[in-house]
Amino acid sequence: MIIAANWKMNPPLADAGALAAAYAAESFDGVTRILFPPAPYLVQMGVRLDGADMQVGGQDCHHNASGAHTGDIAAGMLAECGASTVLLGHSERRTDHGEDDALVAAKAVAALTTGLDVMICVGETLDQREAGAAEAVVTAQLDGSVPAGIEASRLMLAYEPVWAIGTGKVASVEDIAAMHAAIQQWLAGRDLASVPILYGGSVKPANADTIFGVPDVGGALVGGASLKAEDFSGICSAGARTAAARS
Ligand code: PGA
Repeated sequence: MIIAANWKMNPPLADAGALAAAYAAESFDGVTRILFPPAPYLVQMGVRLDGADMQVGGQDCHHNASGAHTGDIAAGMLAECGASTVLLGHSERRTDHGEDDALVAAKAVAALTTGLDVMICVGETLDQREAGAAEAVVTAQLDGSVPAGIEASRLMLAYEPVWAIGTGKVASVEDIAAMHAAIQQWLAGRDLASVPILYGGSVKPANADTIFGVPDVGGALVGGASLKAEDFSGICSAGARTAAARS
């Protein structure tokens, strides 16, 4: 089980140290934890988690290795700052910054070249789901965002229905199962069957066991609940229970 904390543009640095220290104090059998802090905190959070059972990663990277790109961050810089992984194609990047699948794929290639692993996010909007197009949308995002020839060991996917992110709404077990099965089938067709598929969108301690009970769910990408140490811990405990039950 992979459980990732996506802090987005939170919290203030004054609170980040205590949160990372709380993460560092725990470990969970069968659970790999990854923290995606805001980029300016990456080195400091890496130091806090040094020797702890949790990796750090970047929330985004540029598709070029260097150059005149004010405000952007190269994948190699993330790696130099201690990142193992970069999150790419999050719906907030796709919406707020107009990132399309081709750009996500180019970023993934840049990240892989520097030695980072990639976690690529996909997910449909509510309109797309209500129009019956959810699986087609997600499959098209996979086709466009996952670089051809990527090694399975370098890739993680996160299925996050856009309407479930930060809203307290969670997809039904049936909908999660159907989408994860569709993604698994897509992966199997490309020799990527071992790639973990995380679920994201309002995952909390109270719903984590139910979500992790879905067979193809390989973990969670957690936003809001990762900002509270005990909530993140509760989700990781559910991950450990699931890992034990599956082994
Ligand atoms: P949420 O965010 O847990 O706050 O819904 C998840 C995400 O956007 O990765």
